[in-house]
Amino acid sequence: MPIPVSLTVDGKPVTLSLDPRVTILDALRDHLGNFSAKKGCDHGQCGACTVLIDGRRVLSCLCLAVSHDGATITTAAGLGLPGDLHPMQQAFIDHDGLQCGYCTPGQICSAVGMLAEAREGMPSHVTADLSAPVSLSDAEIRERMSGNLCRCGAYANILTAIREVAGADRS
Ligand code: FES
Ligand code: FES
Repeated sequence: MPIPVSLTVDGKPVTLSLDPRVTILDALRDHLGNFSAKKGCDHGQCGACTVLIDGRRVLSCLCLAVSHDGATITTAAGLGLPGDLHPMQQAFIDHDGLQCGYCTPGQICSAVGMLAEAREGMPSHVTADLSAPVSLSDAEIRERMSGNLCRCGAYANILTAIREVAGADRS
């Protein structure tokens, strides 16, 4: 039986009537025509579907929409607009952080979410000193972005783009 679900997606309030089995990813793509988040594996293993839900990066293929009634969802398309890009979007362009671009929306959402986590002092698997403020070394950025796979292998430039924004800390 369909259930009403209210969401704010990229700044716009929407109400959908959804089967309880529909994921956030499928709600975005199939019900709202928002194709920013990509379906790669559909099993939580590639990161292509990453969006921000209430400011946190989340694999949208693993989230049921009904579990997030009332949530605010931001896709990479909602972070900025042509002429007013988010710093992370601009950095990916400036540093060629993409080739085919399929993984890019997920990479950008994950990068924005990751910088917020680091600012809040959340440690990663490679954080040596849990009592010190997080310092975003290349190893830290690589580890924190390790859930986002890029089949084109644009990792070096993605790292450069994220490092630039992390230094400016404008996300
Ligand atoms: S499509 Fe969600 S992690 Fe791959
Ligand atoms: S740019 Fe092609 S998969 Fe990452």
